[in-house]
Amino acid sequence: MLGGKLAVLQALMFDCLAFDPFSLFDDGCSSAVETEIDRHYSEQLGQLEASGAAPELAEMIATFRKEEREHRDAAFANGSEQAPAYPLLAGAIRLGCRLAIKLSERI
Ligand SMILES: [Fe+2]
Repeated sequence: MLGGKLAVLQALMFDCLAFDPFSLFDDGCSSAVETEIDRHYSEQLGQLEASGAAPELAEMIATFRKEEREHRDAAFANGSEQAPAYPLLAGAIRLGCRLAIKLSERI
């Protein structure tokens, strides 16, 4: 009940604003995460292709990268860079992603 009223209030507010800051925030997070995932997949794919090892794995990573690039591009197309404090948001998220990737490489 309360959720429905809040949703209506939110819809009215965002109609007045002509944009949905929560949606922009979601897209801002998505574009930042997907940018780092793309970078990581590209590094892995480059290493596999240079070595010629595990061509099936390289093909899988190329497919995953293509999908993640589509997600990234969709987020940018939705206006992710218009999210509040986008440069700070994206920088923090990308740094967190890089740290998580580095940590996962050591475990
Ligand atoms: Fe994704």
